[in-house]
Amino acid sequence: MRKVLMTHVLSPKTHQWLYSKRVEEGDHLVHYVYNQCKKSMHQGGIVNLRTAAQHYCANVTRKMTFNKRFFGEGMKDGGPGFEEEEYVDALFSCLNHIYAFCISDFLPSLIGLDLDGHEKVVMENLRIINKYHDPIIDERVQQWKDGTKKDTEDWLDILITLKDPDGNPLLSKDEIKAQITEIMIAAVDNPSNACEWAFAEMLNQPEILEKAIEELDRVVGKERLVQESDFAHLNYVKACAREAFRLHPIAPFNPPHVSVADTTVANYFIPKGSYVLLSRLGLGRNPKVWDEPLKFRPERHLDEMDKVVLTENNLRFISFATGKRGCIGVTLGTSMTIMLFARLLQAFTWSLPPRHSSIDLTIAEDSMALAKPLFALAKPRLPPYLYPGY
Ligand code: HEM
Repeated sequence: MRKVLMTHVLSPKTHQWLYSKRVEEGDHLVHYVYNQCKKSMHQGGIVNLRTAAQHYCANVTRKMTFNKRFFGEGMKDGGPGFEEEEYVDALFSCLNHIYAFCISDFLPSLIGLDLDGHEKVVMENLRIINKYHDPIIDERVQQWKDGTKKDTEDWLDILITLKDPDGNPLLSKDEIKAQITEIMIAAVDNPSNACEWAFAEMLNQPEILEKAIEELDRVVGKERLVQESDFAHLNYVKACAREAFRLHPIAPFNPPHVSVADTTVANYFIPKGSYVLLSRLGLGRNPKVWDEPLKFRPERHLDEMDKVVLTENNLRFISFATGKRGCIGVTLGTSMTIMLFARLLQAFTWSLPPRHSSIDLTIAEDSMALAKPLFALAKPRLPPYLYPGY
């Protein structure tokens, strides 16, 4: 399945082919936030950056998968409707349970007893996700079967039309459904969490915010919106995102791996069959590797690399991880993170909400997200004709 996804769904060619869908969602993000400011153009509008970021990620992934932004009608201002809210909440509940300790993961004979109640929660959330996916997938499979669909427009079409060497469908409908759920869960959390944390840190250190905006003005200017082709020149903006991944990973651990052979790492003997959990926090905040590890300081990355990237193959922190099971969505994940972050930075002036002297950086109790969704005051900073209106 990893090979299928890498070769056909997340290949450089498919990434390029779906470029216009990502552009549409980058524009839609600006449109949605602009609408929050419309109530008072001079005073600006209070924006829930968590909602904007999470739903941008879900919109991009839905557009690339199903060729549609919303399952339902959405809201008039471009925001998520009930269906999208319910769906994204279900994705995050599943994600939280991927990392949760569950006794039957270690004693499979207990599966079904649901001693910690996780099975019930995950089943319920998968039911919600499937409620939205299944009718679309079922209908599309039928359309290809009866010949009413002929053009490949999105990932779903790609998965349906893959053939084995005998010319038969490579994937069953159930396999397609499972892969799509996997992709949705994989793509939604990291870019949105990094962006929210970067903004929270930068609102508390406005000189960093100013430097990022200065770079965007220098590289892109104020006569057009930032595009993917600009990313190569946005080293400071990328360093801010990279710093957010280092200091504020979405989860405390990498997904569990099991060692396939006896080995020794840093003088520790690790027997074959061990559960290996890499601590994302322990690596990213290791004082032996990082100077002032708890400080949000993007400059540290500029000091050590000419071209800043979000990957870290030496595992000095974990963004996409590396190796045989490393993330296969690096190109897309990078482009989603930078587009989300750069568009918000370029198109709006951000400041603390009224009556706040700083952002509270407390971490949530049940995840590594900010304890409370980030709200900030946004004011448009580009000429009005640049804000996409529909
Ligand atoms: C900034 C964005 C992203 C980050 C930081 C990220 C990070 C990660 C990490 C840490 C893993 C686990 C690696 C391991 O087990 O060692 C992973 C796995 C994975 N990611 Fe991503 N990811 C991102 C975006 C995406 C996107 C957009 C997709 C696809 C649409 C994706 C698809 C996957 C898949 C399929 C796996 C499982 C690979 C396997 O087990 O072989 N990721 N990702």
